[in-house]
Amino acid sequence: MKTVGLVGWRGMVGSVLLQRMCEENDFALIEPLFFSTSSAGAAAPSLAKNETKLKDAYDLQALKQCEIILTCQGGAYTTEIFPKLRAAGWDGYWIDAASSLRMEEDAVIVLDPVNAHVIKDALGRGVKNYIGGNCTVSLMLMALGGLFSAGLVEWVSAMTYQAASGAGAQNMRELLQQMGVLYGAAKQNLADPTAAILEIDRGVLAAMNSEQMPVTQFGAPLAGSLLPWIDQDLGQGVSREEWKGAAETNKILGKPPLGVPGSVPIDGICVRIGAMRCHAQALTIKLTQDVPLADIENIVAAANDWVQVVPNERVASLNQLTPAAVTGTLSVPVGRLRKPVLGDQYLCAFTVGDQLLWGAAEPLRRMLRILLA
Ligand code: HSE
Repeated sequence: MKTVGLVGWRGMVGSVLLQRMCEENDFALIEPLFFSTSSAGAAAPSLAKNETKLKDAYDLQALKQCEIILTCQGGAYTTEIFPKLRAAGWDGYWIDAASSLRMEEDAVIVLDPVNAHVIKDALGRGVKNYIGGNCTVSLMLMALGGLFSAGLVEWVSAMTYQAASGAGAQNMRELLQQMGVLYGAAKQNLADPTAAILEIDRGVLAAMNSEQMPVTQFGAPLAGSLLPWIDQDLGQGVSREEWKGAAETNKILGKPPLGVPGSVPIDGICVRIGAMRCHAQALTIKLTQDVPLADIENIVAAANDWVQVVPNERVASLNQLTPAAVTGTLSVPVGRLRKPVLGDQYLCAFTVGDQLLWGAAEPLRRMLRILLA
């Protein structure tokens, strides 16, 4: 049984990972070592087997005992520990949720329902670093992987609607607190059916822009508003989240980098909205050829076990294609599929997915299973 070190298992992504590992009985296949950056020596969770105390996540000797390390601890930890561990001669498999190593030559971005061939090839070449992709990119590929593998995508414009969880647990809390402040400002008037809506709106807007509104995490009101910038400013008007679209998609698919023939251009504007943990994306795709819509639906639906084509109808879209419907599930619905007025070689689509599941934890635990097979 392989010894698997788990780091960052208490955080939001780590907790979802552990929950999924329990659901899939992954612990039956491994000897887990639970690491902690803050409470080494304390009791490990009940999932522990032989080693029932938490190990120090900065102890290279302890980490070196692991054949596989699976970390959700974050980029700062990876940047500090990973090079030291490799320099100390550790030759195990490193599976990581953080973005730090994603674009490295000796790392593969894992999303096996889409790029099992890339993973298999890398394993054959002795690659040891397997990194989870950006949530938005992974969810887009889970939805539309069928079109990519059929060679039908010439380019993609992805306009995103990203949930608070993508920014972190504290941001989810802040979103709810902001909602509370807005409701508080409206509560009295809402109870009065004759109160003028514009007066209610004035009160809500005043609260939104007041000192009362907690904005420490987001830097601006999100509830009742939106934030048209995610992650760092890379200059030239591009956010880091937007840059990842093309960079990571091409790498996941085993294609050359953007600008090199054979790559697929992907761009868009990434926007934070007041959803809790489901990212959504409105996609406009230029197809490499005019394919009938019914064929497109079949290709999309057949790509993996989790993608679901939602009929492009009002009721189905409102019932099946929303964060409310999808949160907490591994299902990746894609709907609003139609040929836009741009022409028959174009396709419109809308997709929703839980960014903590396929967007973060699930590809990691599946990579672990691939290594254990
Ligand atoms: N960067 C993403 C976001 C989440 O902010 O929504 C992680 O991939």
